[in-house]
Amino acid sequence: MATPMLIQDIARYEGQQVTVKGWLYNKTHKGKLVFMQVRDGSGIAQCVVFLNDVPPEQFETAKTLPQESSLIVTGSVRKDSRAPGLPGGYEISVSSLEVIQAAEEYPITPKEHGVEFLMDNRHLWLRSSRQWAIMRVRATIIRAIRDWLDDHGYLLVDTPILTPTAGENTTSLFSVDYFGEPAYLAQTGQLYNEANMAAHGKVYCFGPTFRAEKSKTRRHLMEFWMVEPEMAFFSLDDLIAMEQEFVTYIVQTVLAKHGQELAILERDTTRLQNVTPPFPRITYTEAVERLQKLAAETTDPELRENLKIEWGEDFGAPHETAIAEMFDKPVFVTHYPVEAKAFYMEPNRDNPRVVNCTDLLAPEGYGEITGGSERIFDPDLLAQRVKTMGISEEAYRWYIDLRRYGSVPHAGFGLGVERVVAWICGLPHIRETIPYPRMLNRKYP
Ligand code: 4AD
Ligand code: MG
Repeated sequence: MATPMLIQDIARYEGQQVTVKGWLYNKTHKGKLVFMQVRDGSGIAQCVVFLNDVPPEQFETAKTLPQESSLIVTGSVRKDSRAPGLPGGYEISVSSLEVIQAAEEYPITPKEHGVEFLMDNRHLWLRSSRQWAIMRVRATIIRAIRDWLDDHGYLLVDTPILTPTAGENTTSLFSVDYFGEPAYLAQTGQLYNEANMAAHGKVYCFGPTFRAEKSKTRRHLMEFWMVEPEMAFFSLDDLIAMEQEFVTYIVQTVLAKHGQELAILERDTTRLQNVTPPFPRITYTEAVERLQKLAAETTDPELRENLKIEWGEDFGAPHETAIAEMFDKPVFVTHYPVEAKAFYMEPNRDNPRVVNCTDLLAPEGYGEITGGSERIFDPDLLAQRVKTMGISEEAYRWYIDLRRYGSVPHAGFGLGVERVVAWICGLPHIRETIPYPRMLNRKYP
């Protein structure tokens, strides 16, 4: 009797009769042999069909079966160090082949395709081994996030997606019709998190968030997943200490578990291995000085133009990349100007022109992966800051209330899952980090 097997476990089945259910990924044919690469979702196995081992019509079927046909293969597992596959090193000598469906001509072939074509076929592209590897790393990142928080006393408390007001700013809101009144897709769960924090101490929310940003960069999505921890009695220093442990755990968990996937992605992991606490930190003001110095010294006129910055302005991608290149680990940039950041951030006591915040910039040009801060403690100051957004204080009454009933110093941050996937996998563009990316020019499929 043949045993059902997942290809990822093939090494445990040497010499045994097994059954694999999956899809035909690729095949080659030579004389009396057909080499089928069969994938089952867990891996890819070379399945060798020998003319004399199967009924003649099954050999014909194997020779002509189109790519991505669904099938059930039975045979015995043989060790062969040359056998390709994931994990590879073993192959299946086929004794029987059952076709579930012969596929129509598959649009994605091993030849090169343009990105727009692949994005139009995202529902199929996900089957390709690079995309397969990325989704597996993504799943591990999400799990590592949950595991670390759950194991460190953080309670998962969900926050709404349909919201009455802006959570971050008024310029990137998606509005929907809520029974004749406008509602907005959540830009963040943070404001609700702050209420939940007062109930549970340390909380997090984790879900999709939405930004109607008319930006078309390789780092921006309209819909992305963000995990947001929020902690009572945390200062900026506490926040930084926690974030570096958290990010280190995520990176090291992926490295420990996904050598195979990172190899498929041809990711050089040297810089990732280096991700251990403590991470360096510099202030926004120091960063601006360093950028201005760099711009003054460079002989490249384009770089000089890109690095231009005045104190008060937010960083763009070239600035973030240049700052990150000054360090060999992710770097915390702290104390941004009030006007460059969100309304809820606590001003610095010694220098109220800056807020007690920090962005974490990833190495190798992957940009900001987390953004966080201390939150405003005082109800009057918060009310005043709400007004600067041009929204009525009334809409934020509940949020300001939190400062009236046992206000505490507190802090939190958001980590963008897709930015972290792009960084760890070494992907040039964020579109491959999420199964179905929502971008300025794309919402299909
Ligand atoms: O810096 P952001 O906008 O911070 C917040 O939303 C805070 N309310 C979080 C908090 O303190 N609870 O976003 C946080 C992170 C960024 O560092 C980035 O990793 C990611 O979310 N992010 C995006 N990822 C993909 N596409 C976009 N358009 C993103 N905008 C932010
Ligand atoms: Mg930010």
